Amino acid sequence: MDTKDIQFYKNRRMSVRPSDTEIRVVSEIDAFRRAAKTLPTSEDTVLEIGCSTGTTTQILTRTGAQVVAVDKSAELIQKLRQDFPHFASFVAQVDARNIPALVELIPNPTLIFIDIGGNVHLDNVALQLRLCLQAFQPRLIVVRSFELAILVSMVSEVEPPKLSGLSDRVPGEDVLSNLLLLSRSTNMHSRLFAVRNLSKHQTESARRRLQELASDPHHKIRKTARRACQALAISLSDEEKTPMADVFD
Ligand SMILES: C[S@@+](CC[C@H](N)C(=O)[O-])C[C@H]1O[C@@H](n2cnc3c(N)ncnc32)[C@H](O)[C@@H]1O
Repeated sequence: MDTKDIQFYKNRRMSVRPSDTEIRVVSEIDAFRRAAKTLPTSEDTVLEIGCSTGTTTQILTRTGAQVVAVDKSAELIQKLRQDFPHFASFVAQVDARNIPALVELIPNPTLIFIDIGGNVHLDNVALQLRLCLQAFQPRLIVVRSFELAILVSMVSEVEPPKLSGLSDRVPGEDVLSNLLLLSRSTNMHSRLFAVRNLSKHQTESARRRLQELASDPHHKIRKTARRACQALAISLSDEEKTPMADVFD
């Protein structure tokens, strides 16, 4: 590894390493469900992210694969459990950015199906992909996203980065690093998720970041961070305590 690579890694901009995982991008729900019907085998353990009312979940279970399906919506999971009582043991209400919760449910998925909404912002899809690639080593990820599909269809050439010798990650390890990365997302919902979870980490870096987030451009993040700082007895400067105008994001 040359010095530039090391610097890149140290600065934590290298959030995904090259791996053997294949990624298929689809935009239409039909293509997503076709992939769910044809790609898993009975040997696979499948993680489905964004199972909603369970249509794709049903398709996946028919392949004979072992399935764990999650959705962040409590109402949808409740409905799914009512509609399909036999799914109750393998569907869960989890926000899939919560990687430790996913690892607990399914430590080694061989296939991951991600559909957090075909129209959601590319940042959200990229984030979910990155988190999955950091935590798991599936043979294949199928992801549904219009924006990603458009972007990928425009790529005419790729020069793979020359990186080697990076230490192996243990699934679910480095939760704090993930949260610190998330806390710098341009997406307000991702920062909010991070700020809520950072307060559970009693480390210097988490405390420092919470302190910084107390002057985040978004009022909800500021409020949550200030409350967390108060609860953890982290002192704030006058500037951090001062209300400021919101910057939309
Ligand atoms: C378009 S629906 C998925 C449809 C599903 N693939 C099907 O075939 O019926 C998207 C789902 O993703 C869920 N979702 C969005 N963000 C999520 C996240 N971070 N973690 C878990 N689920 C999420 C939403 O609650 C919603 O139910």
